[in-house]
Amino acid sequence: MNIVFLGLPGTGKGTQAEELAGELRIPHIATGDIFRQAISQGTDLGKKAKKFLDSGELVPDEVTCGMVKERLMQEDAASGFILDGFPRTLPQAEALDRIMDELNRELEKIVFFSAPEEVLVMRLAGRRVCSECGTTYHIEHNPPSQEGICDKCGGKLIQREDDREETVVRRLQVNRDKTQQLVNYYEKQGKLTTIDADRSLEEVKIQLKEAVASP
Ligand code: AP5
Ligand code: MG
Ligand code: ZN
Repeated sequence: MNIVFLGLPGTGKGTQAEELAGELRIPHIATGDIFRQAISQGTDLGKKAKKFLDSGELVPDEVTCGMVKERLMQEDAASGFILDGFPRTLPQAEALDRIMDELNRELEKIVFFSAPEEVLVMRLAGRRVCSECGTTYHIEHNPPSQEGICDKCGGKLIQREDDREETVVRRLQVNRDKTQQLVNYYEKQGKLTTIDADRSLEEVKIQLKEAVASP
């Protein structure tokens, strides 16, 4: 199944995608994760992307679209994927439609994670991620069993560079109108399912399962 997760920063896309992708046995493709990995490895892509991630701005479409196309052409994505954090602009959505045409495939579900911005600010402020395996936690809503340590791999938990308050505000500002444009775009195509992301992790997961199972 070819799925897209849309939603503002902190709505829970990454957390839910990780689990659902495991269950459906399809890759979780998160553009933010690809950029962060490239930055930590110091590749050309990482050098191009760094200043945008650090400041909460969007990486230019021409860099992002090519990268996603390459990723979707890899073999493990042939049986489906969850795209998390892409598309984020109308030109990206149009590019994705073209990529799918070229690959003779179709997007089946666009899931929009909806939640008020006050909630998102709290979620991002309390987010911690594993410096080794990338697993995401929240100091209150989803804490590790031992403070500061990843349950899965024992790695050290850190705060994402762009989760500092000023950058969070900027990220919400940058994405607000663009996300709404994408909601309108996919609504017109009749592909959009909106879920209430301002619920517990478990409740969001249930809504997501229903969204994916519905015809
Ligand atoms: P990216 O990494 O995609 O960041 P984002 O969109 O800002 O989204 P987040 O990862 O912050 O939020 P999420 O929805 O995944 O939430 P999570 O599950 O972690 O992008 C980073 C940067 O890369 C961008 O700023 C940009 O520079 C660049 N970039 C990426 N894609 C791009 C593109 N397409 N074009 C251009 N540039 C691009 O959850 C958040 C927290 O809440 C966690 O602590 C979690 O434990 C907790 N939580 C989750 N769900 C719940 C719940 N239901 N109840 C309580 N707590 C919850
Ligand atoms: Mg994420
Ligand atoms: Zn870990």
